[in-house]
Amino acid sequence: MAEGYGYGKTILFGEHFVVYGLPAIASALGNKTTAVVEDAGKYELVDDRPATPQYKKEKYEEQVESNKLIFDACKVDVEKTPLKITLAGDLYAASGVGASAASAAAIARALNDHFQLGYDDKRINEVAYEGEKGYHGKPSGIDNTAAVYGGLIWFVKNLEGGANTMERLKMPEPTEIVLGNTGLTSSTKEVVGDVRANREAEPEKYKKIFDEYSEIVKSAREALTSGGLKAVGELMNRNHNLLQEITVSCKELDFLVELALDNGAYGAKLTGTGRGGLMQALTPGKELQDKVAAAMEKEGFTTFKTRIGV
Ligand code: MEV
Repeated sequence: MAEGYGYGKTILFGEHFVVYGLPAIASALGNKTTAVVEDAGKYELVDDRPATPQYKKEKYEEQVESNKLIFDACKVDVEKTPLKITLAGDLYAASGVGASAASAAAIARALNDHFQLGYDDKRINEVAYEGEKGYHGKPSGIDNTAAVYGGLIWFVKNLEGGANTMERLKMPEPTEIVLGNTGLTSSTKEVVGDVRANREAEPEKYKKIFDEYSEIVKSAREALTSGGLKAVGELMNRNHNLLQEITVSCKELDFLVELALDNGAYGAKLTGTGRGGLMQALTPGKELQDKVAAAMEKEGFTTFKTRIGV
């Protein structure tokens, strides 16, 4: 029997843009998915993760495909060596928190331990990336990288197929955020595909948007690492506006973003795929964090209070 883990994540800047080789900034969450692997009479997957209603059902087929890709990458034959895999942990499985990458990393780590494969984190990350492909054909790799390494990262996908860039960033102090959950599950494959099609249809419009995003993420790195949280908040708002322009927001996400800002959040934006899933609000200090979370809960949304830069 062996156990592995993978961190959840929130993308502070750059979902979707990261797919096209622009830098993005992500923070791992303190919450993890765990995977326990043990020998069994027949292959069985038990999914005990806490989750948004319908999330597991809607992702089931992608999860089966993802696990198959992980087994192939680890050269594990679950017909010949049947296993029971149990997923659990305190990461709430929902669109936006990197739940699929966290579980892929957890399973990769558990298999590595169970079969004594001798993998280092780099190899675990490669396996988790293979697993992510089950959820959407061509992931950028940011989610699995955050799930495996944790912390606050600057990530640039290598479009030529070589190694991606991952740099650790350091904030002067950790700070509070609130994640607000729309309760809606979205398909990363579908939303990423739509952005690609729209970009091909309107290249000039998208070039302008992508250029503006490039400026935003450069300033965001500077602001985050120097503790300029007001500036970080404003840049998050601008990033959210661009995500609206590329049509990946939705009325529930926009409502939560506005609500957070009305209640004093320094900035707010959707996180991850969009068109459902989660948004995040920058709320330095426990008091502001509680206030913004309470405002969202009053409207019937679930929230997660956590910190970035830990
Ligand atoms: C999903 O968490 C982030 C996206 O940018 C897709 C990806 O990076 O592969 C939407």
